[in-house]
Amino acid sequence: MEAATSAIAVGLLPDSLSGQARSATEKKLNIACIGVGVQGTTNLRSVSQTENIVAVCDVDSAQAQKVAQYCPGARYFRDYRTMFDALPGIGAVIVATPDHAHFGPAMAAIARGKHLYCEKPLAHSVEEVQKITNAARLAGVKTQMGIQSHSSEHIRLCCEWIWSGAIGEVREVHAWCDRPTGGFPFPSSISRPLDQPSIPDSLDWDAWLGPAKQRAYHPLYAPILWRGWHDFGSGTLGDMGCHILDAPFWALKLGTPLSVEANVSYNPGQQFWRSWADGSNRWREWSKALQEELTGARSESYPDASIVRYKFPARAGMPPVQLTWYDGGLLPELPKHFPKGKALTGNGAFFVGEKGLIRFTHNAGIRLEMYPDALFEHHRRNPPPKTIPRVSGPYTDWLEACKSDKTSSANFEYSGPLSEMVLLGLIAMRVPNKELQWDPTAKVFVNDDVANGYVAKEYRRGWGP
Ligand SMILES: NC(=O)c1ccc[n+]([C@@H]2O[C@H](COP(=O)([O-])OP(=O)(O)OC[C@H]3O[C@@H](n4cnc5c(N)ncnc54)[C@H](O)[C@@H]3O)[C@@H](O)[C@H]2O)c1
Repeated sequence: MEAATSAIAVGLLPDSLSGQARSATEKKLNIACIGVGVQGTTNLRSVSQTENIVAVCDVDSAQAQKVAQYCPGARYFRDYRTMFDALPGIGAVIVATPDHAHFGPAMAAIARGKHLYCEKPLAHSVEEVQKITNAARLAGVKTQMGIQSHSSEHIRLCCEWIWSGAIGEVREVHAWCDRPTGGFPFPSSISRPLDQPSIPDSLDWDAWLGPAKQRAYHPLYAPILWRGWHDFGSGTLGDMGCHILDAPFWALKLGTPLSVEANVSYNPGQQFWRSWADGSNRWREWSKALQEELTGARSESYPDASIVRYKFPARAGMPPVQLTWYDGGLLPELPKHFPKGKALTGNGAFFVGEKGLIRFTHNAGIRLEMYPDALFEHHRRNPPPKTIPRVSGPYTDWLEACKSDKTSSANFEYSGPLSEMVLLGLIAMRVPNKELQWDPTAKVFVNDDVANGYVAKEYRRGWGP
């Protein structure tokens, strides 16, 4: 891949030239990928099979270099603003930067009328999510959030089971996730590292920080481990909740909660991610002051474990429901219809109905089960009508929408409110042990001003909206 200053734009076809002899859906989109780490690479590899990747933007040139093989004609940029100015022919954008850095590129893309695939959660604050959702609606661009299982057959069947009354009324949902220590571990309950390793030559650290407050570079932030830090990531709930809570959010038409309350556990010393981070115990030097400094919600990082309870009113013909989230190895009590002796693992959700139980599991792949077995067997033989259109995958769903008058299923009208629900839970973790009452119209907590301080973000000078 070539640097922006010396680029030869191989394969960059303006929209006006590329599609003359093709139908709208056969025409290739000119796509720019912003952020090409773990997930950005997955996204890029998928869409490059059918579309033109015309630009790759990453503040770390080494990251961009790794994806060059999948898009040999693309131009490389460090700064998305320069990229948009240089390449007005970009038709669609994929944003896969760390969570704190979604808002800038997403808004810049929408403002220029580009279709947008943005990773989850949509942004890093409730206010940012609302701004992105509103701006995309006004601009009329096609959008999709990166919640892949939203395109699955399983989630559609789950909704159709619930809507056809297969397990009766649902008043309780429990969802759990084994991170931050299990699965794909990242830091938790940790204070800021004290040493200052040198910044890799390939990385523009100031640009990586972007809107976040200035701090010294450390490999405990970038790449990947930013997830555990309040200033950059969204903890376990923000990371995995967008996937695991998707089925409850859709099937139960949850919308906005009435209230949210969190209990959190900061338990330094039991974090398995540390040995994973570099295979040594160097974290001890990085965080000498850890044990003394940590006092609950004052930590700069997310807790080791949390329980978050959301209450929703009656809606869309369904009764009030409580959704409880457990992470860090905490698990719900086994509900009545769950088979005795069967263990819970990994990640998943229970819909507790009056007649039975649906379990939606996100481990290696998705599983959908119903209990008791006889009820499952009955509904397997007598499936509900397929009322939700089927799609062939998260990328195809979005790409087809970009090229037609269709709407993709994880569009921001859906995924914005899902992200907002998740982010409200993160605010509750900052103000734990209190039921925070949320006013969805005024977008404020009516009973806690400290919590209101987390609804919007402050931006570093020069990086604001
Ligand atoms: N949908 C999924 O299954 C899934 C899986 C993993 C991650 N994600 C999401 O994808 C996003 C990225 O996560 P990741 O694990 O790939 O992180 P990562 O740290 O591996 O990659 C992020 C990349 O963005 C780059 N970057 C940072 N700021 C930038 C900026 N202003 N402009 C351009 N590039 C910038 C970094 O240099 C890095 O290469 C997050 O929002 C995360 O929640 C989604």
